Amino acid sequence: MRKVSFAEFGGPDVLHLVDAEEPHAGPGQVRIAVRAAGVNPVDWRIREGQFQQARPLDLPAGVGLDAAGVVDEIGAGVEGLAIGDRVFGEGTSTYAEFAVLSAWARMPEGLDFAEAAGYPSVVETALRVLDQVGARPGDTLLVSGASGGVGSAVLQVARERGIAVIGTAGAGNQDYLRELGAAATTYGEGWVDRVRRLGSVDVALDLAGAGVLPELVELTGDPRKVLTIADLSGPELGVRFSGTAGSVPDALAEAADLIARGKLRIPVEKSYPLAEAATAHADSQSGHTRGRRVVLP
Ligand SMILES: NC(=O)c1ccc[n+]([C@@H]2O[C@H](COP(=O)([O-])OP(=O)(O)OC[C@H]3O[C@@H](n4cnc5c(N)ncnc54)[C@H](OP(=O)(O)O)[C@@H]3O)[C@@H](O)[C@H]2O)c1
Repeated sequence: MRKVSFAEFGGPDVLHLVDAEEPHAGPGQVRIAVRAAGVNPVDWRIREGQFQQARPLDLPAGVGLDAAGVVDEIGAGVEGLAIGDRVFGEGTSTYAEFAVLSAWARMPEGLDFAEAAGYPSVVETALRVLDQVGARPGDTLLVSGASGGVGSAVLQVARERGIAVIGTAGAGNQDYLRELGAAATTYGEGWVDRVRRLGSVDVALDLAGAGVLPELVELTGDPRKVLTIADLSGPELGVRFSGTAGSVPDALAEAADLIARGKLRIPVEKSYPLAEAATAHADSQSGHTRGRRVVLP
């Protein structure tokens, strides 16, 4: 089979499409014929070697966590699934023609593979951070970096839970945030005053790592009401950093339910052939993805 691999840490050009042995499903796993793989910022952070101290990775290594496809091998102990089922979930080396998943759910009717591949990690993250920041029905939540993958999911889950949202994004994404039910304003010069004009803030999420934690603390009045997933300086200010994934199967089940009820849609900004994974990474790294990017074998 063909898969995307890298043999040294570095920029997008270390990614190459190579011939590789097919992986096989171990106990508790399934193998899928991949139809689409989600591109997450963590993919290029791993490719750059950012996690080598915390979680060393042997090279050469494959790329990708999220995928959607058709089950073609079922590991020992897995029940309730058949060859040919359409699933989306999380695994390893998903930028490939075949990949092994360790967590999955059946794809809701009507969802295509490209869109499905965008959900797993972002929905897990969105559900986790909404719970950890302590956003409750009736609260107003400020979201810095609201138009990306995680932000798109946070806004829609918040709307479903009765949490009001003020989101920041670039000028081209203001209508997008409003369509997702949020009050919107742009980041950049004067943004704190623009947020104040939209209302008072109970809790805040930093999803972009744009260096705004002091302002989020100022707006909420308490560092314990702020949570970041992208700024390692958080703890210096008393702001929690959320970095450990919660239950992916639970998140996938909730995502499938929300999608089936028409309450959650994460648009695919662009699809790339597997051979153009390096371009997909470069585009993701530019930091302005609306929704998700995906690669297609
Ligand atoms: N710790 C964890 O568990 C965890 C989990 C998932 C993701 N992450 C991290 O969280 C971050 C977001 O992930 P993602 O998948 O949502 O990324 P993404 O899809 O690439 O979205 C990035 C978003 O950031 C916005 N943005 C860019 N510059 C900004 C600024 N100065 N102020 C506010 N927003 C700005 C962009 O909005 P515009 O396009 O409108 O400019 C874009 O929509 C990444 O750094 C990722 O590595 C961490």
